[in-house]
Amino acid sequence: MFQENLIVGSNENVTGDYYLMHLEIGEREEETAIASAAKPGQFVQVRVHEGTAPLLRRPFTFYKARKRFFEILYKISGEGTRALCRYNKGERVDVVGPLGNGFTLVPDVDEHLLVAGGSGLASMYLLSRMCGRSPAKTVLLLGAQNKDDVPMRRSVAQDFDGLAIPIQVWTNDGSLGNTGFVTKALEKILQDAAKMRFAVYASGPIGMLRKVAELTTPFGIPTQISLEQHIACGLGVCEGCVVKTKDDSGSGYAYRKVCSDGPVFDPAIFEGYWDEIVEP
Ligand SMILES: Cc1cc2nc3c(=O)[nH]c(=O)nc-3n(C[C@H](O)[C@H](O)[C@H](O)COP(=O)(O)OP(=O)(O)OC[C@H]3O[C@@H](n4cnc5c(N)ncnc54)[C@H](O)[C@@H]3O)c2cc1C
Ligand code: FES
Repeated sequence: MFQENLIVGSNENVTGDYYLMHLEIGEREEETAIASAAKPGQFVQVRVHEGTAPLLRRPFTFYKARKRFFEILYKISGEGTRALCRYNKGERVDVVGPLGNGFTLVPDVDEHLLVAGGSGLASMYLLSRMCGRSPAKTVLLLGAQNKDDVPMRRSVAQDFDGLAIPIQVWTNDGSLGNTGFVTKALEKILQDAAKMRFAVYASGPIGMLRKVAELTTPFGIPTQISLEQHIACGLGVCEGCVVKTKDDSGSGYAYRKVCSDGPVFDPAIFEGYWDEIVEP
């Protein structure tokens, strides 16, 4: 884990409430330690304001990471993200990371199915690149409430075009792509090709993650979900982010920290405890 004071290279509106922030190292330095160590699904804690309000850093997953920079794709949802979108090119931002446990590539499968809901798209670019290193096909299923909640525009759309993977867009109101929940697409793919070996990776709202788990875990399909909860320290110290899960024996329960045990988990541990997870 590193702490760096990075330079804002750009901080652009992608669409609606979505912004893409590019954070880079100064000209004289070779690399950002944070970006160089970043893995898909891990996150950074960003100091969103120079002053004391908001006091707590805010967590964002790595959208893109190279040697000299990384990017975060974020949605304005409150005070912290509103402060973040006001940063201009050339200003500095204090960042801590990489934090948490990210996604791991599942070997020996025919297809990697990536399921994202709204801002859950943020972790899918790095993840798609990781999956692209395996011989298996990668497919992205992207769901949102409506077209304004689909951040697949401008440079984000260009990034995904460059990956050349099949992408299905689903909106609840049908204003873009197919109509309905994105999990409907997942269900159909899993049913139509029951003999194929899939690995499923998901990031998005709790309801979507729960449905993904219902479609995969009873059938032994390897699945990883990225959980978003309120994060305080981000370091596994304060226990402000705990969620109730099955314990390792499977017969009792245990509290796990989203920031340090996760944010990526095997959803099987939430069986029987989904109702206790609160959407942040
Ligand atoms: C590990 C992790 C990675 C994340 N990565 C991203 C990302 O890449 N892009 C992105 O847009 N968002 C991401 N989030 C969510 C993001 O951190 C929150 O939206 C942000 O902290 C809200 O801060 P705020 O001050 O703007 O909102 P607040 O004023 O704190 O809250 C405003 C609203 O946002 C909700 N909210 C607060 N915290 C969270 C949270 N952790 N998750 C979801 N909703 C929240 C609140 O319940 C409230 O409804 C991530 C969260 C976690 C835990
Ligand atoms: S936020 Fe402090 S332990 Fe997770």
